[in-house]
Amino acid sequence: MIEVMRQNHVAQVARIHHDALPADFLPSLGLPFLEKVFFRAALTSEYGKTFVYTDKDKVAGFITIAHDSPAFIRNIFLSNLPQIVWTFLTKVLLNVALLVESLSLLSSLRDAGEKTTKSEIVLIAVDKEYRGKGIGSELIKEAMSYIRTRGYTCCRVKTLAQNTDAIAVYRKNGFETRRTLTLAGKKYLIMVNEGN
Ligand SMILES: CC(C)(COP(=O)(O)OP(=O)(O)OC[C@H]1O[C@@H](n2cnc3c(N)ncnc32)[C@H](O)[C@@H]1OP(=O)(O)O)[C@@H](O)C(=O)NCCC(=O)NCCS
Repeated sequence: MIEVMRQNHVAQVARIHHDALPADFLPSLGLPFLEKVFFRAALTSEYGKTFVYTDKDKVAGFITIAHDSPAFIRNIFLSNLPQIVWTFLTKVLLNVALLVESLSLLSSLRDAGEKTTKSEIVLIAVDKEYRGKGIGSELIKEAMSYIRTRGYTCCRVKTLAQNTDAIAVYRKNGFETRRTLTLAGKKYLIMVNEGN
């Protein structure tokens, strides 16, 4: 069953994200950062929602969708400024690779090329033992129907080119590759679903 994420889901969602995408920027900031900062802020943001797929009380997967992605990201940053500055000082400044990656990601947020598509799948992950059962596709459909309730039809996603499972699932759900970009030496695809 799919439901909106509640406080009691946050720890499981953070763990799934952390385990599914260990090479990504946010998980590299650590599980406590995901649980206590990122998903806690996502829970209350008015610019997006996180939906969870639950199997009894267990979270099997989740999707974070922002109907206004620039506002969502600003909101997460500003509502957690002290913790984010602390994480930056203690984790990022001491790690050159992470510093380069965070600066590239920050500059990519100002990318003018996708300004017309504000809605964005920020994150999606399904626990390994639940993959290949259609949960990822169901979560994407829920996210697309959520953005429609906010007056949007078109949705984008940025994903590492190496996430081939995710790219196949996005294609299956109407997303097409618009362009590629390289950030901090990593290749990403920007995919868009026009919602037609
Ligand atoms: C991308 C992801 C969320 C998809 O979740 P999912 O629940 O497995 O998705 P679905 O079941 O809807 O689709 C998976 C496809 O792979 C196939 N598949 C079969 N067995 C599989 C398995 N053991 N594991 C994964 N996929 C499998 C499925 O059959 C399906 O294809 P089909 O519909 O053509 O048959 C999941 O692979 C994941 O968490 N990946 C790591 C995180 C990630 O890369 N996130 C994207 C960041 S942008």
